[in-house]
Amino acid sequence: MAKRDLINITDLDLDELDRLLALASDIIESPEKYQDKCAHKTLATLFYEPSTRTRLSFESAMYGLGGNVVGFSDANSSSASKGETVSDTTRVMECFADIIAMRHPKEGAALVAANSCDVPVINAGDGGHLHPSQTLTDLLTILRNKGRLTDLKVGFCGDLKFGRTVHSLILALLRYKGIEVVLISPDELKLPSYNKDAMDDAGIKWVETTSLEEALPELDVLYMTRVQKERFFNEEDYVRLKDTYILDEQKLESAKDDLVIMHPLPRVNEISVEVDKDPRAKYFDQVKNGRYARMALILMLLGIEGGLN
Ligand code: CP
Repeated sequence: MAKRDLINITDLDLDELDRLLALASDIIESPEKYQDKCAHKTLATLFYEPSTRTRLSFESAMYGLGGNVVGFSDANSSSASKGETVSDTTRVMECFADIIAMRHPKEGAALVAANSCDVPVINAGDGGHLHPSQTLTDLLTILRNKGRLTDLKVGFCGDLKFGRTVHSLILALLRYKGIEVVLISPDELKLPSYNKDAMDDAGIKWVETTSLEEALPELDVLYMTRVQKERFFNEEDYVRLKDTYILDEQKLESAKDDLVIMHPLPRVNEISVEVDKDPRAKYFDQVKNGRYARMALILMLLGIEGGLN
């Protein structure tokens, strides 16, 4: 059977996505059932860009399944610093590992890696493009808090241009019924047109606004994002835009009681720390869900549980 990768969330069909979320929920309920499933299997984490959550949740996921982890968290400590290509590094790492998770600053790098080796490759973030394993985390968080992935009004706020977690989550949500999307950003940081075209093709209702205050009362889910400093060409633009939206308790007075507030993290200044105490704040639960979603993903890509078609 052909190997499977996760480069874009659309690599999983809706049935596979739902089965993966069900598997993640089962792991949350009964982790001991899965603790040896990856014994003698090795995950390679190839991180050419900084990460806290994604890399460590992949590693924690593999250890939770009884497996091993090798890899690097800084390209300068790998032979990339001597000019080795992504393709050659991937071919080397498949000699040591059964599955690879890669983060890279260049869009498309994970696809190059996937095409260079015979083991499954997971895109753990490629530039400002996509971040599908974060999407699994996000879907699991919405599902566990709202009990459904249908009939939801979801607001995305902040840097929608460079925010790869937003791009991936929209591509996933548009496959569910009754989703409406509200895009809240400054004009300079609007969602790329390929995402808007995908929503149009799927018949999803979406609107754009610059006002978080106006959008907030209608939302079931609010997905805040950081302005992505590392993707800006000049510091001046970043400084001008970075504090455009700051969610605080006062703004939240107009929001629904069962709003789910999410953020892929890291947070800089866009959610006041006072909001952390609000029962609607779910961004640290989201981190926890990331470990279980990635456990399910590893099991499925390795064909150990919930086989993929
Ligand atoms: N959400 C996320 O991708 O966080 P890290 O950059 O810390 O991995």
